Amino acid sequence: MPLQVSPSDKKLHVAIIMDGNGRWARARGLPRTMGHKAGIEALRRTLEAARDFPISHLTLYSFSSENWGRPVEEVHDLMGLLRYYLKHELATLHKNNVRLRIIGDRTRLDADIADMIVAAEAKTAGNTAITLTLALSYGGQQEITDAVRSIVAKVANGDLAVDAISTETIGAHLYTHDMPNPDLVIRTSGEQRLSNFLIWQAAYAEFVFQDVLWPDYGREHLEAALVEFRARERRFGK
Ligand code: FPP
Repeated sequence: MPLQVSPSDKKLHVAIIMDGNGRWARARGLPRTMGHKAGIEALRRTLEAARDFPISHLTLYSFSSENWGRPVEEVHDLMGLLRYYLKHELATLHKNNVRLRIIGDRTRLDADIADMIVAAEAKTAGNTAITLTLALSYGGQQEITDAVRSIVAKVANGDLAVDAISTETIGAHLYTHDMPNPDLVIRTSGEQRLSNFLIWQAAYAEFVFQDVLWPDYGREHLEAALVEFRARERRFGK
C-alpha cells in the first residue's frame, strides 16, 4: 500500500536498528564484511527514500558500544567502512542538503575518524532537508551514565539544585538534547530487541519489526513501516 504524503504531514523522527548484515553475508558464503559493505548501499537507498517521506530525522544504529567486543578484524573493517563513508559521501550529503550528526562516545574512535566527524558536522550544520544521525560507539545506558555524571558535577559545583532535576534535565544532557524523540523505531532481520538503542528517547516510540535483512532494505520497506506507523493510534499514555 503506498503512503499518502501531503506537505502538512507532521515530520517524523525515524530511528533504525540495522540488523542482519552478518546473516546476509553468510547466506551467500561471503565474509561478514561484505554484508556490512552491502549495508552501506542499503543506508544510501534508505536515506534517499526518506527524503521523499515526511521524515525530518533519520537516526541509524551503526556501531554500538558493545560492538567493540567483536573480533578485532571485524571492528577494523567496520571502521574502514566508516572512513570510506565519511570521505566519499560527504559531498553528496551536502549537495542534497543533508545535515550529518554523530552520537556516541567519540573518545573511543581513532583520532582521524573523530576529526572527520567534526569536519563533516561543521560542513553540513546549516543543511535543512533531513538530519541523518549515525549512532557510533553508542550505548543508551552509557549515554545516560554520562548525563548523570554531568548533572552531578553541576550539583556539586552548586550550579544546579537537586530539586530542580526533572526529566527535561536528563534529556538536556543526552547526546540528542537538540533533537526530537523518535516517533518510530524500526528493527530489521526479525529480531525484537532495543539493544541499548535510544532507551531514554524511545519511551513513547512505536516499534515496527521487519523480517528483511538490512542489506536488502530499501524504499518499499521504509514505506511499509510508515504505513504501519500511520495505522497506529498514539496516545502517549493518556
Ligand atoms: C548488524 O548486523 C549491523 C551492524 C553491527 C552495523 C551496521 C553497519 C552498517 C550498515 C554498515 C556500516 C555503516 C557505517 C556508516 C559504519 P550484524 O553484523 O549484527 O548481523 P547479524 O545479526 O546477521 O550477524
